Amino acid sequence: MTTLISPCTQLLTLAGDALPRKGSTQGQLRLIERGAVLMEGDTIQAVGSAEELERRCAGLSLDRIDAEGCVVMPGFVDSHAHPIFVHPRDAEYELRIQGATYQEIAGKGGGILNSVRALRNTSKEQLTRLSEPRVRKALESGTTTLEAKSGYGLDVENERKMLEVIRELRQRLPLELVPTFLGAHEIPPEYRSSKETYVDLLVEQMIPTVARQELAEFCDCFVEPNLYSLAEAERICRTAIRHGLGIKLHADQLSRSGATRLGAQLGAVSVDHLEQIEPEDIQALAASQTVATLLPGSVFHLGLHRYPPARALIQAQVPVALASDFNPGTSPTLSMPMVLSLACTQMRMTPAEAVVAATINGAHALRRADRIGSLEPGKQADLCIFDLDDYRQIPYFFGMNHCRMTIKKGTVVYRRDRGWQEP
Ligand code: NIG
Ligand code: FE
Repeated sequence: MTTLISPCTQLLTLAGDALPRKGSTQGQLRLIERGAVLMEGDTIQAVGSAEELERRCAGLSLDRIDAEGCVVMPGFVDSHAHPIFVHPRDAEYELRIQGATYQEIAGKGGGILNSVRALRNTSKEQLTRLSEPRVRKALESGTTTLEAKSGYGLDVENERKMLEVIRELRQRLPLELVPTFLGAHEIPPEYRSSKETYVDLLVEQMIPTVARQELAEFCDCFVEPNLYSLAEAERICRTAIRHGLGIKLHADQLSRSGATRLGAQLGAVSVDHLEQIEPEDIQALAASQTVATLLPGSVFHLGLHRYPPARALIQAQVPVALASDFNPGTSPTLSMPMVLSLACTQMRMTPAEAVVAATINGAHALRRADRIGSLEPGKQADLCIFDLDDYRQIPYFFGMNHCRMTIKKGTVVYRRDRGWQEP
């Protein structure tokens, strides 16, 4: 099937070289005014001006999508999310509004452990049923690739259950799910007084099995004083690398643990969060190939004020990605447009830098930039179309969804209705 999207009032191609965008290229959209995209099957055939592609396609029988008045861009690549869980944690949200902190709630057995208890008591089939409609929602705001972490099971059986649910949903949904093993998300309650035994289990059994059975592509670890230490994280990461998994870290989120520097040293694909980093950490990142993935949704939802230093990172030539961190505790949103709004307003990223961070740099943070994240001939036809005539309006209209259509591998997978009709 051949489809021509033409005209596109603004076409953001994000074309460029094979490296993540950083410094002055962090905001490089390669925008074509009145552009067009030609797709053949699941692949992009051509990108150019509407005039040129219309001429080239004259007389051919093809499907057409009219994007007059619209912004057309690559689908969002949301490279950090925890979308598999049983229920929202709205009661904790209310407790935080009344003054409790995230750490206090976690210390009393709430937080991640609340989600762990529920997940352990839920069958794989039920967990799949609960997660599917939630995950599907990502398509409605233009996301075409979504990372999915485990980490609410924290034992052999339940971590496997989560990874199998991710595998099942990956086959069932048009959204591309990328599995990450996060067995080191919290300390399992049964190992409270013998954390080393659980780390041994992770290193000796869980990581090797997950890698061998190809249940995950990446391994992640939540490095915080009361959770996993830097030394434990290093042991976990080195094991994961030995077994062929890529590394990601929850780094310097609530306290400055040094995980950003550890990730840079170990060649992590990305280090994520970075709210507490200092200039030395930025220097370490600048000397590495690691992407800095910022998650402003979690700062916003926790009602905190210290956002990660996006401007300093960009200034230091560190490639910045943006992701939702969708999870029931700190960031209950799958809306990448909302994440862009937060990045622009709270971290002073320009709209162009934010779009780059949420597409091609997100693709780099998932080692998929050769296939997705930009609109170039030969790449996968993953796109989204916004009912807006300037890309800056995507973050400008905060908390509103103007996504009209989402296309995955050349197929329309979400189309917003025309809305209410006059009686
Ligand atoms: O990215 N920081 C650790 N993990 C999540 C929170 C998970 C939860 O609270 O359920 C995060 O913020
Ligand atoms: Fe997270």
